[in-house]
Amino acid sequence: MKVLVVGGGGREHAIIKKIKENSEVRQIFALPGNAGMNEDAVCVNIGAKEIDKIVEFATDNKIDYAVVAPDDPLVLGAVDALEDKGIPCFGPKANAAIIEGSKVFSKNLMKKYSIPTAAYEVFNDMQKALHYLETAPVPTVIKADGLALGKGVIIAMTREEAKEAVRSMMEDKVFGKSGDNIVIEEFLTGPEVSVLAFTDGETLVPMVSSMDHKRAGDNDTGLNTGGMGTVAPNPYYTEDIAKECMETIFLPTMNAMNKEGRTFKGCLYFGLMLTPKGPKVIEYNCRFGDPETQVVLPLLKSDLLTVMQAVTNGTLKDTAVEFRDDSACCVIMASKGYPEAYDKGFELKIGDSVKNDTYVAGAANKDGKLVTNGGRVLGVTAVAKNLKSAISGAYEKVKEIEFDNAFYRSDIGKRALDALEEK
Ligand code: AMP
Ligand code: GLY
Repeated sequence: MKVLVVGGGGREHAIIKKIKENSEVRQIFALPGNAGMNEDAVCVNIGAKEIDKIVEFATDNKIDYAVVAPDDPLVLGAVDALEDKGIPCFGPKANAAIIEGSKVFSKNLMKKYSIPTAAYEVFNDMQKALHYLETAPVPTVIKADGLALGKGVIIAMTREEAKEAVRSMMEDKVFGKSGDNIVIEEFLTGPEVSVLAFTDGETLVPMVSSMDHKRAGDNDTGLNTGGMGTVAPNPYYTEDIAKECMETIFLPTMNAMNKEGRTFKGCLYFGLMLTPKGPKVIEYNCRFGDPETQVVLPLLKSDLLTVMQAVTNGTLKDTAVEFRDDSACCVIMASKGYPEAYDKGFELKIGDSVKNDTYVAGAANKDGKLVTNGGRVLGVTAVAKNLKSAISGAYEKVKEIEFDNAFYRSDIGKRALDALEEK
């Protein structure tokens, strides 16, 4: 089989490594991929948003199966375009990817179907939003409607900050058209949990839960990033909570999408907050999370490609999806300065003993050498019998990786470990 994976980061590298385990897979193409994946896939210089070129490549190369991993191409209709040419795909069509593509859509969906989430108001008029903020409770959360590279959410501690956020989105258009509409919502508190789920629209199978670490610095300080590390499973996510989420959030969401005529097939990501009033949805993503995937897939016992094909064919209910009863920890190594300005082009050395567990997000070839080429450069994952060993294992592996200006958090998994010890 020839498989194509759209995307180029650590998440895609983790998907590719797992798909490679299927003995029928002869070749994997990554569009665009990055030079750090060269041993696992053929990287092709086509951007993830270049839908026409992706489709042309897939048909010219007689691709048997395609996985569209990032949000942008899903929202732009990459799956629709590939399926129109008869190429089976993993990922939702555009009319279902809107669950991530528009926060106004997802909030209204949750309200309509009584799925627990933060209370909210939608605005398309800046003056009305500013007027509302005169009396709104703070802290409050301002969200741009559309995709904004994960930066479209601002937690405002004061009314002034909230107004500033509204102006930046609606007047200065810092997120372009994504800020034409905004959501202002209630500030929630509690531990956050990420749950990724396979669904074919009829059956929904949650994967092992995980915990992201979004802030750049130790003890959750510093700026928000795309994610500095993850652990799985998430100790806050007990069996009782999992059962409650299945009943009040996961299945109602799948059913709601069906009722709206927007059947979701693919990986549906639930960003949850376990509030004092029960689990609530913070956000939906229409795809695998990054870097959640780098801890979730290494724990998957079942064959990923088989499960993905079952999602595509609508046979998920007859397909085993099993996870190891172990723990995993992924530490992201970034370039100093990230998520703001950083330098790139430093030689990247990955020890042979950790190559299998390293998921490269940003690397390029320069004069025959692998060099850094991004803010988040790579993630390295360890799997072990318990969380404590997984964390120390991941930090041992970090020592086998070298590049100038590297920085990483030293406390990935600490909060999870503390939670386990409190139990
Ligand atoms: P998102 O980009 O939607 O993942 O949001 C980024 C982060 O903002 C989330 O992971 C939460 O930590 C935080 N956040 C989003 N919505 C809320 C909310 N209603 N209350 C508190 N924190 C929130
Ligand atoms: N780790 C959060 C996300 O993938 O959006």
